[in-house]
Amino acid sequence: MSGSKPLIAADLVYVPKAAEIAREAGALLRDFFAKGVETEYKGDVDLVTVADRAAEKLIRTRLSEVFPEHGIYGEEGTRERLDSEFRWYVDPLDGTTNFAHGFPQFAVSMGLEHRPKGLKLEEDGTLVAAVIYDPMRDELFTAERGHGSQLNGKPARVSPIGTLAEALLATGFPSRKRHTSPNIHFYHEFTLRSHGVRRAGSAALDLAYVACGRMDAFWEFNLNPWDTAAGILLVEEAGGRVTDFAGGQVRLNSDEVLASNGSIHDELVGFFSDLFMGRNLSPIPTPEEFARLRSQRAK
Ligand code: IPD
Ligand code: CA
Ligand code: CA
Repeated sequence: MSGSKPLIAADLVYVPKAAEIAREAGALLRDFFAKGVETEYKGDVDLVTVADRAAEKLIRTRLSEVFPEHGIYGEEGTRERLDSEFRWYVDPLDGTTNFAHGFPQFAVSMGLEHRPKGLKLEEDGTLVAAVIYDPMRDELFTAERGHGSQLNGKPARVSPIGTLAEALLATGFPSRKRHTSPNIHFYHEFTLRSHGVRRAGSAALDLAYVACGRMDAFWEFNLNPWDTAAGILLVEEAGGRVTDFAGGQVRLNSDEVLASNGSIHDELVGFFSDLFMGRNLSPIPTPEEFARLRSQRAK
């Protein structure tokens, strides 16, 4: 951990204050992480801890102090001023499963949407500011529309990798309705076509890593706006592309997010189309087939 506060450009409107709040929430998560917390179940394997709730409360209180007109939509239930022209999507702890197991990969995520008057409820506005803070590495990812993305105050850019075959990818799996997710098929196919697929357990950090070139692309099914709002803007402002799996406009309340460095985006969209059509699959042995071959070899 560096100990010194990263620099943030003075002409930014929302990021400086939001970054301060994300750092405060991150410090609180770090303390809970060091002490250890009990886990509750929201669903099947959907976990929540006292740390998720305490961090959301801190962010809600502090955001309401510094941006009293802004709305807030938080994972742990905050729904405030949702008719406001600006709305923060807040994930106070993205990576709760990691956190609960003592695996140090989690973050605070805050994304700001501008919703001009007259916008329909179901329509998305424009993402204008993003802050993702990883308290364990003291890494602050920030973006404001038109000002680029930064990691700890220095410009962040997506990677220059030009082909899927050379790419490092990331994905995640849902903690609800796990049996209805087809993602393991995509995981299998993309693993065989790339340098590998990481499943680190924080969608916000996965997106932030695409924005700073540590990953070349990320996809996931069925994320929520609090998971993606900040990360989408970070990737776009870092020179990357974010769409649905068909290359169309990404929705905040998204069933599909595909983020990349831009250079490999069309190739990825092509593979998604192939996989959805059952084309160009790479079969691997089933466990039964493998066991049969293994016992034949042993004879
Ligand atoms: C989860 C993480 C994970 C993703 C899950 C999300 P949470 O968020 O982002 O990487 O795969 O779909 O629900 O529950 O830890 O805030
Ligand atoms: Ca999340
Ligand atoms: Ca969360």
